[in-house]
Amino acid sequence: MLTPMRVVILGSGRGSNAGALLRAQAEGRLGSAKIVQLFADVPDAGILALGPRFGVPAEFVDPAPFKTKLEGAGEERYIAAINACAPDLVVLAGFMRVLKPGFLHAFAGKIINLHPSLLPSFPGLDAIGQAWRRGVKVTGCTVHYVTTEVDGGPILDQAAVRVEPADTLETLAAKIHAAEHALLPAVVARLSAR
Ligand code: GAR
Repeated sequence: MLTPMRVVILGSGRGSNAGALLRAQAEGRLGSAKIVQLFADVPDAGILALGPRFGVPAEFVDPAPFKTKLEGAGEERYIAAINACAPDLVVLAGFMRVLKPGFLHAFAGKIINLHPSLLPSFPGLDAIGQAWRRGVKVTGCTVHYVTTEVDGGPILDQAAVRVEPADTLETLAAKIHAAEHALLPAVVARLSAR
């Protein structure tokens, strides 16, 4: 048995991908990864409700003073809280903030992000809507290492999703989320084997 790879998950929203990771762990599909903590930057984020359900600590950490980035006092609070977990991997699962060099250096080479497009296409906000409006016939999702370039770090893996004639923005989003729920646990399990 490998030494557990300690995983901290950061999210801002409903937490369906954190849920997929926790389910994978419960079902023995996460390799030697061990999810040790969930953090959210939104006090009522759905991701926080997963903690009690899966027996993993879950906590809101105040990201102030900025709205869309993590810098200054908020960044320091996150670095301290995550460091206290001694993580081997920090997973951004719908964490909707731009990370700055202080945070990136604190966890260099250990931060991965999930993005709902086939990067480098459609980085940034509303990636699914961007792809939909552009009329692409294949889109999908990406897991990549996080660097200072937003959505620009080395790609770990991707899953493709076809846009069918009958799709709507809503059905496309549902297909991409389903692909994410398979891709992210598979990447984490693979990383845990290294
Ligand atoms: C996911 O679709 C993820 O790819 C996206 O946020 C969603 C989180 O959903 N992330 C980004 O857009 C980051 N740029 P969830 O809270 O249900 O896991």
